Formats: sequence, structure tokens, C-alpha cells
Amino acid sequence: MDDIRKSLKKAISDQGWIYADRQHRIGNPFEWVDGDLTANLGAFTGVRGLLQYLSLFYEQYPLPDSIKTEDYDQMRQYIEGVIRRLYNNLVPFEPAVDLDPKAYIESSALVRAQDYSIICSLCPDMKKKGINHLDIGSGIGSHAVYSLKGFDSCFYSIEAVSHTYAVQRDFYRFLSEGNPVYLDLVECENFNLNNSQMKALVNSFGQYKIKHVPSWHFGMIDDNSIDLVTATWVLNEVTFSGIMWLISHCSRALKKGGYFYIRDSSKLKPLRHQINYDELLIDLGFKEAGRANVRNRIDLHGIPRAYYKDTESSYNFFELVDKCIGKFGITVHGGDYVQNLPAGQIS
Ligand SMILES: C[S@@+](CC[C@H](N)C(=O)[O-])C[C@H]1O[C@@H](n2cnc3c(N)ncnc32)[C@H](O)[C@@H]1O
Repeated sequence: MDDIRKSLKKAISDQGWIYADRQHRIGNPFEWVDGDLTANLGAFTGVRGLLQYLSLFYEQYPLPDSIKTEDYDQMRQYIEGVIRRLYNNLVPFEPAVDLDPKAYIESSALVRAQDYSIICSLCPDMKKKGINHLDIGSGIGSHAVYSLKGFDSCFYSIEAVSHTYAVQRDFYRFLSEGNPVYLDLVECENFNLNNSQMKALVNSFGQYKIKHVPSWHFGMIDDNSIDLVTATWVLNEVTFSGIMWLISHCSRALKKGGYFYIRDSSKLKPLRHQINYDELLIDLGFKEAGRANVRNRIDLHGIPRAYYKDTESSYNFFELVDKCIGKFGITVHGGDYVQNLPAGQIS
């Protein structure tokens, strides 16, 4: 994991996040507010670290029939099989601690099969096979399972948190089953590839099925190259700067007509940031493609919704910051410490 931290530190310095406006006014976009506030997250590496992310899901809410694809049950069983094999491979004995692997495996598979099914029904114009799918804040990395199987995708995983990136490495290596289809940009840096060589690899077509991209290298992904973005339980946990970074790059990298799928509580959590990202997407020229008519943790876990990009234009990070907080807004201290925001710009 030291190599991931080293890559982050270098990028923060090289990209100027430690100087002037970015250091003193806007803040760096690679922080995780909720993660930093959650005791023990990041304290464990290896198998226990991975199981912390697997146990993110332990409840089960069935999917309404109206948004079930024909292959929903098959997909759910497939994902469950993959995650069960992973678990048995990592923990080939009976643990003598309070774990409920059956619940974590079944719930994780359920949530991801639901994502697959809901994406199919909310994004009818998306190509059925061979898409470029970019997931931000990938947790264990389980979006890759339905994506590779159901969409025959090339899966891009964007992550900003070093210990989560390390967990994803283990998961993506397991999924690759010994085949040379997993591209890890931090490993490329470890072997002294320069930025243009990494950019060429990350945008190459054919060999790689999983492209693992630290968020500080998001800019290497080509404009108009992505068909689907997924962001599940991530946007409401990051800082103002994180939202600006992720939304500006996603809107740049998405093709016109591409879809942006979000699933979370659909509420702004207090003290993270004050930007309503659903409204921001509409403001940037996205149109709502659909929203599941459900109540969070009553009917379903999270409120899934999708937008499609209905514009050729996009904003870079600095343009988007200007648009949202002007030249004098101060967000670096986060939470309630924001100052000088233009009236009416932030909900
Ligand atoms: C609550 S987890 C959700 C995981 C996953 N999306 C899922 O649904 O299973 C939040 C994820 O966002 C990542 N994350 C946190 N801050 C981030 C940031 N500033 N930029 C990108 N990803 C971030 C975390 O490391 C983690 O992978």
C-alpha cells in the first residue's frame, strides 16, 4: 500500500494541490469524509480489510418486479457464486469471530444484481454489449462482476483512498483468474512508466478488461470515451472539491448520450459538502432518464436514478468550481466551515 500512498503524495505535489487556491481555498479532491470518520476503516489490510468492504451490505430488500430483467435471477446467482468463491479462497477455515459471511455474500450479490437490472431498465439506449463502464469509488470492486459478464465491458475503476485501492487490487486480481487483463496504473508507475505511456495504455482497446485508475490520474482517460458511469454510495461522502473533480471528469469522459447512474440515500448528508449533485448534473446539460420509485431502506437499499448526457460541452475542474462558488468561496475546511459562497449558487 506504500506505493499507492507514494503515488498520491507525488500527484498532490505535482498537480499543485498544496499551493495557493487549491491548498488554501478549494481543498484537494482525494479525501473521504465518511471514511475518515469511521473507526477502524483502513486499520486492517489483507483479508480482514477486504471483508470490511464486503460487509458493507448485510440487509436484503427484494427488487420490485417492474424493474427486473429476464436474466436477473441468473445474474444474482452468478455474482453470488463469484463472491462465495472469493470468500472460500480467502478464508478456507471456520473463523472463530463474529462474522456472518452468508449475509454479506448474499446481500452484496443482491445489491449488484439489482444495479445491473435497474441500469438495463433506466438506460434503454445504452449499447447492450462491449461498453466502457467507469465506476467511481468502487469499494470492494463488485460492480465489475455484473459489468464484465452482462455488458461484456471494459471496466474502469476510479478510486482515491489508498487502503480501498489496495482491497480492490486483491479483488481484481482474483477476477482476472491469472489472465493479463488487469491494468493497475499504480503498478505502471512502480515500473517507471511515464504519464504519456500510462495514458496510452489506459485508453488502449482490446487487452485490458479492468483498468484501475487512481482518481488523481482521472485526467488520463480520454474525453467522450465512456458509455456508463456508476456512482453508488460515494458522491454524498466526499468533499466539495471531490464532487467538482469527479463530476467534471465524468462529464468530460462520458460520450454524448452516455448514462450516469447514481444510487445512494438521495439526501445530502450533513457536513460533507453543500452541492446537490443531481441538480448540478441537470445544470450541466444532463437529462433525467429515470428513477426507481422506492423508499430507502423500506422498499430498497438506496434510491437508484440515472441521467443521460444531452450536451457536447463540459466544464473542467476550475471552471466548475468557479461556476459553483465563484472566485472567493472557501470550501477547504469542509463541513459547516464554508465561507463567501455566492447567494443562490448552493442549495
Ligand atoms: C461507501 S463506499 C461505496 C462503495 C461502492 N461504490 C459500493 O457501492 O459498494 C465509498 C467508496 O468511495 C470511495 N471514495 C471515498 N472518497 C473518494 C473520493 N474523494 N474520490 C473517489 N472515491 C472515493 C471509497 O474509498 C469507497 O470505495
